[in-house]
Amino acid sequence: MKTITVHASHTYPIYVQNGLLSDCGSYIRQNTKAASVAVITDDIVQKLYSDAVLSSLQKAGFRTERFVFPNGEASKCAKTLLDVYDFLCEKQFTRTDAIIALGGGVVGDLAGFAAATYLRGMDFIQIPTTLLAQVDSSVGGKTAIDLKGGKNLVGAFKQPVCVLCDPNTLQTLPPAIFSDGMGEVVKYGMIRDAKLFELLAAHTQENIFSVLEEVICTCISIKRDVVEADEFDTGERMILNYGHTLGHAIEGYYHYETYSHGSAVAIGMCLMAEKTCSPEQTAALKACLEAYHLPTSVPVPMAELLPFCGVDKKRAGSQLRYIVCETAGKAEIRTASVTDFAAWMEGNA
Ligand code: NAD
Ligand code: GLY
Repeated sequence: MKTITVHASHTYPIYVQNGLLSDCGSYIRQNTKAASVAVITDDIVQKLYSDAVLSSLQKAGFRTERFVFPNGEASKCAKTLLDVYDFLCEKQFTRTDAIIALGGGVVGDLAGFAAATYLRGMDFIQIPTTLLAQVDSSVGGKTAIDLKGGKNLVGAFKQPVCVLCDPNTLQTLPPAIFSDGMGEVVKYGMIRDAKLFELLAAHTQENIFSVLEEVICTCISIKRDVVEADEFDTGERMILNYGHTLGHAIEGYYHYETYSHGSAVAIGMCLMAEKTCSPEQTAALKACLEAYHLPTSVPVPMAELLPFCGVDKKRAGSQLRYIVCETAGKAEIRTASVTDFAAWMEGNA
C-alpha cells in the first residue's frame, strides 16, 4: 500500500493499491466517524463496482445507501444535485454522516459539491475509477456543477477526508477514456517531471499497465505538491493548466462535440510546444501522445482558434495567463493581453 498525505485545509491520506476496492470499508472507517454513508455513483460504475464497495462498507459497520445517476457530463448539473439533496433528506442523513463518490470526475465533482453544501458540509470520500479522476480530479478539493452557460461555474473547495485509488478499476475503462486520462498524465511529465515524461515516452497505451501504479503515485504526488503550494488556485496551481488555454479553445471551437477534453489538451500542449520547445522536444511530446492514441494537431488555422482563448477561465481582466514549458519537467506561468498572446501564437511578436 502506498499512502500519499495531502496537507491542505486539513490533512488527509490518498491510498493507492491494486485491489483496494474490496477492502475500502476498513480504510474509510479509519478516517470518518460517520454512522451512515451515501455512495453516489453513475449507472456504468454502479454495475461494475458498487456491490463490492457496499459490501466492504457494511462489513466495516456502516449503514449504506446508494444514489445512481446516468453517466456523462450532462448529469453534472443542478437537477442531479437537487435529486441528491432530496435523496439525502429522504434517507435522513445528518451532518456527521458521509458522502462517498464512486466513479470518474463527473461523480467526484457533483458528489463533492453535495458534500460541501448539504447541511453546510459533511465528510466526503473519493473512490476515483477513471485515470483522470485518480491523477487529477480526486486530488485537491475542487468540486463543481455545470450551468447552461459553461462548465464548473458553481462550485466549492471541499477537501475529502480520504481518497482510495484502486488502479485495477482502470482495466474496465473504454480505451478512449483511458487515453483522455493519459493526456493529463503526460501533462504532469511536461510541467514537473522529466523522468516521468521519459518513462511515459518509453511505453505505450498497450504496455503502460505494468508501471501504472507507480505512474499514478507520481502524478498524485505532483498534484499534491502543487495543491499544497496554492490550495485556492490563486497562483502556482495554474501550471496544471498547461495545454488548457488552447485546449479549451479547441473544445469551444467545435462546440464540445468533436474533441474530448484530453484530446483537446493534448493538441493544446503540442501547439504551445511548437512555440517554445526545441524541435526534438516537440517531436518527443507528439510521439509520446500518439503512443496513447491522442491527437497532436487540429485542422483549424490558429487565427480561428484564438478568439476562443479570450473566454478562458484563467483570464484576469484583459490579461490571459497561460503556461509555457521550454523543456519537459519545467513550467512557467506567463501573462499577456489577449491581443499580444494572439500575435505571439501567430508568430507576429
Ligand atoms: P466521467 O466521470 O464522465 O467518466 C467517463 C466515463 O467512464 C463515464 O461514462 C463513466 O461512467 C465511465 N467509467 C468511470 N469509471 C469506469 C470504469 N472503471 N470502468 C468503465 N467505465 C468507467 O469523466 P472523467 O474523465 O473521469 O471526468 C471528467 C470530469 O472531471 C469533468 O466534469 C471535469 O470537469 C472534471 N474534472 C474535475 C477536476 C477537479 O479538479 N475537480 C479536474 C479535472 C476534471
Ligand atoms: N485540474 C486543475 C486543478 O485541480 O486545479
